Amino acid sequence: TNAARRFVWERSDVMRTMPKRRRSSHKGTYGKLLVVGGSKAMAGAVTLAAKAALRSGAGLVTMAVPETVYEAVANRMPEAMCRPWPAEGGAFAGAADWNGLDVDALAVGPGMGRTEGVRRLVGELVRKPVPLILDADALFFWDDYAEQVRRRSAPTVITPHPGEMARIVRRSIREVEHDRFGLSKRLAMEYGVYVVLKGPYTIVTAPDGSQYVNTTGNPALAKGGSGDVLTGIVAAFLLQHEAVQPAVSNAAFVHGKAADWLVQHGHSPWDVLASDVVEALPAVLASLA
Ligand code: APR
Ligand code: MG
Repeated sequence: TNAARRFVWERSDVMRTMPKRRRSSHKGTYGKLLVVGGSKAMAGAVTLAAKAALRSGAGLVTMAVPETVYEAVANRMPEAMCRPWPAEGGAFAGAADWNGLDVDALAVGPGMGRTEGVRRLVGELVRKPVPLILDADALFFWDDYAEQVRRRSAPTVITPHPGEMARIVRRSIREVEHDRFGLSKRLAMEYGVYVVLKGPYTIVTAPDGSQYVNTTGNPALAKGGSGDVLTGIVAAFLLQHEAVQPAVSNAAFVHGKAADWLVQHGHSPWDVLASDVVEALPAVLASLA
Protein backbone atom coordinates (compact mmCIF):
# COMPACT_ATOMS: atom_id res chain seq x y z
CA THR A 1 0.00 0.00 0.00
CA ASN A 2 1.06 3.57 -0.68
CA ALA A 3 -0.85 5.04 2.22
CA ALA A 4 1.30 7.42 4.20
CA ARG A 5 1.96 5.99 7.62
CA ARG A 6 2.85 9.03 9.64
CA PHE A 7 2.49 9.30 13.39
CA VAL A 8 3.26 11.74 16.14
CA TRP A 9 5.40 10.00 18.77
CA GLU A 10 3.88 11.10 22.05
CA ARG A 11 4.65 10.85 25.72
CA SER A 12 2.25 7.89 26.02
CA ASP A 13 4.25 6.06 23.33
CA VAL A 14 7.43 6.73 25.28
CA MET A 15 5.91 5.53 28.57
CA ARG A 16 4.69 2.35 26.86
CA THR A 17 8.01 1.48 25.23
CA MET A 18 10.73 2.63 27.66
CA PRO A 19 12.55 -0.49 28.86
CA LYS A 20 12.59 -1.19 32.58
CA ARG A 21 15.84 -1.46 34.50
CA ARG A 22 15.72 -4.97 35.91
CA ARG A 23 16.75 -5.76 39.49
CA SER A 24 18.70 -8.80 38.36
CA SER A 25 20.74 -6.81 35.85
CA HIS A 26 24.42 -5.96 35.63
CA LYS A 27 26.35 -3.64 33.37
CA GLY A 28 26.63 -6.29 30.66
CA THR A 29 22.84 -6.44 30.50
CA TYR A 30 22.78 -2.91 29.11
CA GLY A 31 25.43 -3.32 26.51
CA LYS A 32 28.85 -2.15 25.50
CA LEU A 33 28.99 0.92 23.32
CA LEU A 34 31.94 2.14 21.30
CA VAL A 35 31.80 5.82 20.41
CA VAL A 36 34.20 6.59 17.57
CA GLY A 37 35.02 10.24 17.05
CA GLY A 38 37.13 13.22 17.94
CA SER A 39 39.98 15.08 16.30
CA LYS A 40 42.35 17.82 17.30
CA ALA A 41 39.83 20.57 16.56
CA MET A 42 36.80 18.76 18.03
CA ALA A 43 37.84 16.70 21.02
CA GLY A 44 34.70 17.55 23.01
CA ALA A 45 32.12 16.01 20.68
CA VAL A 46 32.99 12.44 21.58
CA THR A 47 32.85 13.07 25.34
CA LEU A 48 29.43 14.70 24.97
CA ALA A 49 28.12 11.64 23.15
CA ALA A 50 29.72 9.26 25.65
CA LYS A 51 28.38 11.11 28.65
CA ALA A 52 24.89 11.30 27.14
CA ALA A 53 25.03 7.54 26.54
CA LEU A 54 25.99 6.83 30.15
CA ARG A 55 23.31 9.21 31.45
CA SER A 56 20.84 7.32 29.25
CA GLY A 57 21.61 3.92 30.70
CA ALA A 58 24.36 2.37 28.57
CA GLY A 59 26.23 -0.25 30.61
CA LEU A 60 29.76 0.33 29.38
CA VAL A 61 31.02 3.08 27.13
CA THR A 62 34.39 3.22 25.43
CA MET A 63 35.55 6.14 23.33
CA ALA A 64 37.88 5.43 20.42
CA VAL A 65 39.78 8.60 19.56
CA PRO A 66 42.83 9.55 17.50
CA GLU A 67 45.88 8.89 19.68
CA THR A 68 46.90 12.55 19.43
CA VAL A 69 43.86 13.63 21.48
CA TYR A 70 43.79 10.61 23.78
CA GLU A 71 45.20 12.36 26.88
CA ALA A 72 42.79 15.29 26.67
CA VAL A 73 39.74 13.11 26.10
CA ALA A 74 40.58 10.39 28.63
CA ASN A 75 41.20 12.93 31.40
CA ARG A 76 37.87 14.62 30.77
CA MET A 77 35.65 11.57 31.30
CA PRO A 78 36.42 9.29 34.25
CA GLU A 79 33.28 7.19 33.76
CA ALA A 80 34.08 6.08 30.22
CA MET A 81 36.97 4.03 28.93
CA CYS A 82 39.15 5.46 26.25
CA ARG A 83 41.21 3.85 23.54
CA PRO A 84 43.78 5.52 21.30
CA TRP A 85 43.51 4.66 17.61
CA PRO A 86 46.13 5.44 14.95
CA ALA A 87 46.22 9.11 13.97
CA GLU A 88 47.62 11.28 11.24
CA GLY A 89 47.47 15.05 11.35
CA GLY A 90 45.25 15.19 14.45
CA ALA A 91 42.54 12.90 13.02
CA PHE A 92 42.05 9.15 12.53
CA ALA A 93 44.60 7.53 10.24
CA GLY A 94 42.21 4.96 8.81
CA ALA A 95 42.83 1.68 10.62
CA ALA A 96 41.19 0.46 13.80
CA ASP A 97 42.70 -1.56 16.61
CA TRP A 98 40.07 -4.04 17.80
CA ASN A 99 42.41 -5.91 20.18
CA GLY A 100 40.32 -7.05 23.12
CA LEU A 101 37.35 -4.91 22.12
CA ASP A 102 33.93 -6.42 22.61
CA VAL A 103 31.23 -4.15 21.21
CA ASP A 104 27.42 -4.39 21.14
CA ALA A 105 26.84 -1.12 19.28
CA LEU A 106 28.86 1.51 17.42
CA ALA A 107 28.27 5.26 17.29
CA VAL A 108 30.48 6.87 14.69
CA GLY A 109 30.98 10.49 13.72
CA PRO A 110 31.08 13.12 16.47
CA GLY A 111 33.95 15.52 15.81
CA MET A 112 35.88 13.19 13.50
CA GLY A 113 36.69 15.65 10.76
CA ARG A 114 36.61 14.82 7.07
CA THR A 115 40.06 13.48 6.25
CA GLU A 116 41.06 10.57 4.03
CA GLY A 117 41.83 8.59 7.18
CA VAL A 118 38.29 9.16 8.44
CA ARG A 119 36.93 8.02 5.08
CA ARG A 120 38.85 4.76 5.32
CA LEU A 121 37.97 4.15 8.95
CA VAL A 122 34.24 4.68 8.42
CA GLY A 123 34.39 2.32 5.44
CA GLU A 124 35.84 -0.29 7.78
CA LEU A 125 33.34 0.31 10.59
CA VAL A 126 30.20 -0.11 8.45
CA ARG A 127 31.27 -3.73 7.92
CA LYS A 128 30.97 -4.56 11.61
CA PRO A 129 27.89 -6.72 12.27
CA VAL A 130 26.53 -4.70 15.20
CA PRO A 131 23.93 -1.93 15.44
CA LEU A 132 25.50 1.22 14.01
CA ILE A 133 24.78 4.93 14.30
CA LEU A 134 26.33 7.21 11.71
CA ASP A 135 26.34 10.91 12.52
CA ALA A 136 28.02 14.18 11.59
CA ASP A 137 31.30 13.78 9.71
CA ALA A 138 30.78 10.04 9.27
CA LEU A 139 27.87 10.99 6.99
CA PHE A 140 30.14 13.12 4.83
CA PHE A 141 31.38 9.95 3.12
CA TRP A 142 27.95 8.40 2.56
CA ASP A 143 28.53 7.81 -1.16
CA ASP A 144 31.60 5.70 -0.41
CA TYR A 145 29.84 3.17 1.78
CA ALA A 146 26.12 3.46 0.95
CA GLU A 147 26.15 0.09 -0.84
CA GLN A 148 27.81 -1.56 2.16
CA VAL A 149 25.15 -0.07 4.39
CA ARG A 150 22.39 -1.43 2.14
CA ARG A 151 23.83 -4.93 2.61
CA ARG A 152 24.13 -4.70 6.40
CA SER A 153 21.96 -7.06 8.41
CA ALA A 154 22.37 -5.33 11.79
CA PRO A 155 20.36 -2.09 12.21
CA THR A 156 21.80 1.17 10.88
CA VAL A 157 20.64 4.57 12.14
CA ILE A 158 21.70 7.79 10.43
CA THR A 159 21.16 11.15 12.11
CA PRO A 160 21.58 13.92 9.52
CA HIS A 161 20.71 17.58 10.04
CA PRO A 162 19.18 19.16 6.90
CA GLY A 163 22.61 20.11 5.52
CA GLU A 164 23.91 16.56 5.88
CA MET A 165 20.68 15.18 4.43
CA ALA A 166 20.97 17.48 1.41
CA ARG A 167 24.41 16.12 0.65
CA ILE A 168 23.31 12.49 1.06
CA VAL A 169 20.30 12.79 -1.27
CA ARG A 170 22.00 15.28 -3.61
CA ARG A 171 19.45 18.03 -3.20
CA SER A 172 19.65 21.55 -1.88
CA ILE A 173 18.88 22.26 1.76
CA ARG A 174 15.82 24.15 0.52
CA GLU A 175 14.56 21.05 -1.27
CA VAL A 176 15.15 18.98 1.85
CA GLU A 177 13.16 21.40 3.98
CA HIS A 178 10.34 21.31 1.44
CA ASP A 179 10.05 17.53 1.40
CA ARG A 180 11.34 16.23 4.73
CA PHE A 181 8.90 13.31 4.78
CA GLY A 182 9.31 12.25 1.16
CA LEU A 183 13.09 12.37 1.00
CA SER A 184 13.50 10.63 4.38
CA LYS A 185 11.15 7.86 3.32
CA ARG A 186 12.89 7.26 0.01
CA LEU A 187 16.30 7.12 1.66
CA ALA A 188 15.18 4.84 4.50
CA MET A 189 13.48 2.38 2.16
CA GLU A 190 16.24 2.36 -0.45
CA TYR A 191 19.05 1.61 1.99
CA GLY A 192 17.16 -0.17 4.76
CA VAL A 193 18.19 2.38 7.36
CA TYR A 194 16.50 4.34 10.11
CA VAL A 195 16.70 8.01 9.14
CA VAL A 196 16.57 10.65 11.87
CA LEU A 197 16.11 13.92 9.99
CA LYS A 198 16.84 16.51 12.65
CA GLY A 199 15.56 20.01 13.25
CA PRO A 200 12.36 21.33 14.83
CA TYR A 201 9.99 18.35 14.49
CA THR A 202 12.62 15.69 13.98
CA ILE A 203 11.28 12.87 11.79
CA VAL A 204 12.27 9.25 12.44
CA THR A 205 11.68 7.04 9.40
CA ALA A 206 11.94 3.25 9.60
CA PRO A 207 13.13 1.06 6.70
CA ASP A 208 9.48 0.06 6.08
CA GLY A 209 8.66 3.71 5.37
CA SER A 210 6.67 4.40 8.53
CA GLN A 211 7.37 7.84 10.01
CA TYR A 212 7.28 9.19 13.55
CA VAL A 213 7.41 12.92 14.30
CA ASN A 214 8.96 14.25 17.49
CA THR A 215 7.42 17.35 19.04
CA THR A 216 9.80 18.05 21.93
CA GLY A 217 12.76 20.42 21.82
CA ASN A 218 13.22 24.13 21.29
CA PRO A 219 15.72 26.60 19.82
CA ALA A 220 17.95 26.26 22.88
CA LEU A 221 19.21 23.17 21.01
CA ALA A 222 20.37 25.28 18.06
CA LYS A 223 23.97 25.24 19.27
CA GLY A 224 27.05 23.14 18.49
CA GLY A 225 27.14 19.87 20.39
CA SER A 226 23.39 19.25 20.63
CA GLY A 227 23.59 16.64 17.89
CA ASP A 228 26.43 14.82 19.64
CA VAL A 229 24.24 14.49 22.74
CA LEU A 230 21.41 13.01 20.64
CA THR A 231 23.80 10.46 19.15
CA GLY A 232 24.76 9.26 22.62
CA ILE A 233 21.13 8.89 23.70
CA VAL A 234 20.21 7.02 20.52
CA ALA A 235 23.10 4.61 21.07
CA ALA A 236 22.21 3.93 24.69
CA PHE A 237 18.54 3.37 23.86
CA LEU A 238 19.40 1.04 20.97
CA LEU A 239 21.30 -1.11 23.44
CA GLN A 240 18.38 -1.28 25.85
CA HIS A 241 15.24 -1.44 23.71
CA GLU A 242 13.89 -4.54 22.01
CA ALA A 243 12.95 -2.69 18.82
CA VAL A 244 14.86 -0.03 16.93
CA GLN A 245 12.13 2.48 16.02
CA PRO A 246 10.90 3.02 19.60
CA ALA A 247 14.52 3.32 20.73
CA VAL A 248 15.27 6.04 18.22
CA SER A 249 11.98 7.90 18.68
CA ASN A 250 12.33 7.78 22.46
CA ALA A 251 15.83 9.21 22.14
CA ALA A 252 14.57 12.15 20.08
CA PHE A 253 11.77 12.69 22.60
CA VAL A 254 14.06 12.63 25.64
CA HIS A 255 16.70 14.85 23.99
CA GLY A 256 14.10 17.51 23.19
CA LYS A 257 12.46 17.17 26.60
CA ALA A 258 15.77 17.81 28.31
CA ALA A 259 16.04 21.13 26.47
CA ASP A 260 12.41 21.93 27.30
CA TRP A 261 13.03 21.12 30.96
CA LEU A 262 16.02 23.48 31.06
CA VAL A 263 14.09 26.50 29.77
CA GLN A 264 11.37 25.75 32.33
CA HIS A 265 13.93 25.55 35.14
CA GLY A 266 16.01 28.70 35.16
CA HIS A 267 17.61 28.56 31.73
CA SER A 268 16.87 30.81 28.80
CA PRO A 269 16.68 29.79 25.13
CA TRP A 270 20.05 31.54 24.71
CA ASP A 271 22.30 30.14 27.38
CA VAL A 272 21.85 26.36 27.21
CA LEU A 273 25.03 24.36 26.53
CA ALA A 274 25.07 20.85 25.14
CA SER A 275 26.54 19.69 28.45
CA ASP A 276 23.52 21.24 30.23
CA VAL A 277 21.29 19.05 28.05
CA VAL A 278 23.21 16.01 29.27
CA GLU A 279 22.80 17.18 32.88
CA ALA A 280 19.05 17.61 32.38
CA LEU A 281 18.64 13.95 31.38
CA PRO A 282 18.21 12.77 35.01
CA ALA A 283 15.14 14.97 35.51
CA VAL A 284 13.57 13.88 32.23
CA LEU A 285 14.32 10.19 32.70
CA ALA A 286 13.08 10.30 36.29
CA SER A 287 9.74 11.57 35.00
CA LEU A 288 9.53 8.56 32.66
CA ALA A 289 10.69 5.82 35.04
N1 APR B 1 14.15 23.28 17.67
C1 APR B 1 14.23 22.02 18.11
N2 APR B 1 15.36 21.27 18.02
C2 APR B 1 16.44 21.81 17.47
C3 APR B 1 16.42 23.14 16.99
C4 APR B 1 15.22 23.88 17.10
N3 APR B 1 15.11 25.16 16.67
N4 APR B 1 17.66 23.41 16.49
C5 APR B 1 18.40 22.30 16.66
N5 APR B 1 17.67 21.32 17.24
C6 APR B 1 18.12 19.97 17.56
C7 APR B 1 18.11 19.10 16.31
O1 APR B 1 16.87 18.47 16.14
C8 APR B 1 19.24 18.12 16.63
O2 APR B 1 18.78 17.09 17.45
O3 APR B 1 19.47 20.00 18.00
C9 APR B 1 20.22 18.98 17.38
C10 APR B 1 21.30 19.62 16.46
O4 APR B 1 22.10 18.64 15.88
P1 APR B 1 23.23 19.02 14.81
O5 APR B 1 22.65 19.91 13.77
O6 APR B 1 23.86 17.77 14.38
O7 APR B 1 24.25 19.94 15.63
P2 APR B 1 25.69 19.73 16.23
O8 APR B 1 25.62 19.19 17.59
O9 APR B 1 26.36 21.05 16.13
O10 APR B 1 26.51 18.76 15.37
C11 APR B 1 27.87 18.60 15.74
O11 APR B 1 28.10 17.49 13.65
O12 APR B 1 26.44 18.02 12.21
C12 APR B 1 27.79 18.16 12.44
O13 APR B 1 28.60 20.12 11.40
C13 APR B 1 28.09 19.61 12.62
O14 APR B 1 30.35 19.33 13.28
C14 APR B 1 29.07 19.57 13.75
C15 APR B 1 28.71 18.35 14.58
MG1 MG C 1 25.71 17.11 14.18
